[in-house]
Amino acid sequence: PVLVVDFGAQYAQLIARRVREAQVYSEVVPHTATVDEIMAKDPAAIILSGGPASAYSPGAPGMDPALAKAGVPVFGICYGFHLLAQALGGTVEATGAREYGRTEINLLADGGVLHRELPARHQVWMSHGDSVTKAPDGAVVTATSAGAPVAAYENPAERYAGVQYHPEVLHSPHGQEVLRRFLHEIAGIRPQWTTASIVDEQVGAVREQIGDGRAICGLSGGVDSAVAAALVQRAIGDRLTCVFVDHGLLRAGERAQVERDFVAATGVNLVTVDARERFLDALAGVSDPEEKRKIIGREFIRVFEGAERDLKAQGDYRFLVQGTLYPDIVESGGGTGASTIKSHHNVGGLPEDLRFELVEPLRLLFKDEVRRVGLELGLPETIVHRQPFPGPGLGIRIIGEVTAGRLETLRAADAIAREELTAAGLDRDIWQCPVVLLADVRSVGVQGDGRTYGHPVVLRPVSSEDAMTADWTRLPYDVLERISTRITNEVAEVNRVVLDVTSKPPGTIEWE
Ligand code: XMP
Repeated sequence: PVLVVDFGAQYAQLIARRVREAQVYSEVVPHTATVDEIMAKDPAAIILSGGPASAYSPGAPGMDPALAKAGVPVFGICYGFHLLAQALGGTVEATGAREYGRTEINLLADGGVLHRELPARHQVWMSHGDSVTKAPDGAVVTATSAGAPVAAYENPAERYAGVQYHPEVLHSPHGQEVLRRFLHEIAGIRPQWTTASIVDEQVGAVREQIGDGRAICGLSGGVDSAVAAALVQRAIGDRLTCVFVDHGLLRAGERAQVERDFVAATGVNLVTVDARERFLDALAGVSDPEEKRKIIGREFIRVFEGAERDLKAQGDYRFLVQGTLYPDIVESGGGTGASTIKSHHNVGGLPEDLRFELVEPLRLLFKDEVRRVGLELGLPETIVHRQPFPGPGLGIRIIGEVTAGRLETLRAADAIAREELTAAGLDRDIWQCPVVLLADVRSVGVQGDGRTYGHPVVLRPVSSEDAMTADWTRLPYDVLERISTRITNEVAEVNRVVLDVTSKPPGTIEWE
């Protein structure tokens, strides 16, 4: 892999993605990794990320100079550009000239290998207070800017290079080209990380891991478990069995989508467990959000365990497939004492005492790569580009007790909202649009000649990159109008539609 050493930049993950977009496999490692640990991963190249520190200040996260001389190609970005210069005999100073944001660089020496044939003067994205004032011995300076006498240097023979600016952000329009030149031309790495090769490699790895054994996969209806299952199905065929739990908290058409579309696309063995009554019974009388989440999580596990026991009675199911992604793995490294905002229940999140060996064929991939793999495996767009839907389903979108009647009401309203958003071509513009039933609230309305006393539903359209933060989506008024008119006309219990205009924070996306 190409290893991105993370010096505390918010950019390290982004750099890894850009490297992958250049069709080279990449992973992030913390800056605390030792040279031995890094070399043990047999890196094809090392990229030193940016970071908030000053390379010359005491206590700043450093770089073992041995890394620069380990015989592996190295690329430094911003802070990493400073560290690399220092390690190789250059100098870094606070010159007093800071540059933040859009900046122009001027190429020198015809731009060298990295910037060859790019415009002699072009825009990049900078964010630095310190500057390299002397490049490493033997390196050629190939760019300069008003605030950075050395804005890029390279030594293709020694296979290292660096840039002061951030090539990974879109505000550096030629950045991806520069990164590609480093990888392909200076480091000499062949671009082989393509969707087809990912599928081949992972199918091979799964075959090797499972051998002639059998595997179970819990399907949630979401993208990740569907793609993981399709990939394992490609590897071991009908020795994979998928289990889909219908907890009755699904939206209209979801069960059919799994039972029909997914099976049609993959030919997978599917067991659907109808647990609707069981969940309704367990939720009776409960309106506290956390209590609902816990009950749904607990019941889910019990149902899944039951299905698992039945399967194990029929054959030797030793493996459990999960749709864990690369960011899940990276992120679970951190997290000290964060407060529980909501107990998230992932349909894949199963108890530890399930004695399975885990198969996680997506654990190296980012979400967009997972979607491409899904398409490569022949899954339909409706599954691959599905918007997120919470594991506890409609159970946390009914504010108040969950009952069969309320579920029916919410399902009808939700189906209308989704239909109209899809018809307006807005599915890819929004992250998701929960529809929430305020089951314990009533308001007076008038319909025909009569008074109504029904429930409101809330539309919660949001835009987001990763669900950590979100903004409410400014949906066109005519779309809102169609949704509102149809819901109040077609869903008897609902006589009012309201719009949630709260960002996250302070609101969360879901109401419970
Ligand atoms: P919140 O409400 O915390 O939601 O802003 C953030 C994102 O996570 C989804 N969500 C869940 N997903 N299990 C899941 O798999 C859960 O328990 C759960 N709760 C919320 C939510 O739909 C949004 O995309």
